[in-house]
Amino acid sequence: MTLKEHQLASLERDGFLVLPDLFGLSEIQLLQSRLPALLAQENPANIIEKASGQVRTAMGIHLRDEIFAKLAHHPRLIGAARQIRAEPLYIQQVKVNVKAAFSGEVWQWHYDFATHHHDDGVPEPLALNLHVFLDDVNDFNGPLYFIPGSHKFGAHRAVHDTSTTSYPLWVVEPTVVREMIANAEAIDPNRAIVAATGKRGTGLIFFDTLVHGSPVNLSPWDRSIFSLILNPVSNASTRDTRPEFKHHRDFTDVQADADDCLQYGAG
Ligand code: SIN
Ligand code: MN
Repeated sequence: MTLKEHQLASLERDGFLVLPDLFGLSEIQLLQSRLPALLAQENPANIIEKASGQVRTAMGIHLRDEIFAKLAHHPRLIGAARQIRAEPLYIQQVKVNVKAAFSGEVWQWHYDFATHHHDDGVPEPLALNLHVFLDDVNDFNGPLYFIPGSHKFGAHRAVHDTSTTSYPLWVVEPTVVREMIANAEAIDPNRAIVAATGKRGTGLIFFDTLVHGSPVNLSPWDRSIFSLILNPVSNASTRDTRPEFKHHRDFTDVQADADDCLQYGAG
């Protein structure tokens, strides 16, 4: 898969790019079949929601399961990232954000680089977040909300929120979010906030300074999303304060597997 010029231009303009049908149904079913056992494990890398006791995010999942290892090395993700950042990239973080039916909690407005910089000492906002929807994501089951163009505000002030959810996060204050939404609205009144929805198998790419969040899942539908963060080797973390599953320490250049590695019968 090669990103087209207009896709690269829209990523540059908005800070995110939606890729419908990046993975097929059989590939997603194979990945989904691995999730129940992984979520049932007692493992510090399974971070539990505050209220429900359900898994919020299952981290380091490529080191716990061979099929998710293949997804973390999939050429449709690695190839796209290499097109955008033409330099060696390492696997910074791999997880599935679960957001279970009726209980999946909020992700506050934030941009990932605030965490990567403050917690891990990553110098520049060059990491790419690559998502794959493992469930259909609709308006009701807690889709990600993006503020188009908010990546252009760069690395602005963020506040460390350790109490709202079970996952400490550097978040963006409402006054700043308001300004970003007004900016997006001035560019296109119909796209002040975009909900990233789509069928299972949809891919997403977004930049490290793009402001995003997601609401609670009030629906009866689970919403699992796989996330792979790749960072240039030249921009590696300089601090080891967070557990390894939150920022991996292996800075070797990630190698892509075969395109059919998630097809039935592939070795
Ligand atoms: C979410 O899974 O809803 C948010 C994930 C993120 O912040 O990347
Ligand atoms: Mn995020």
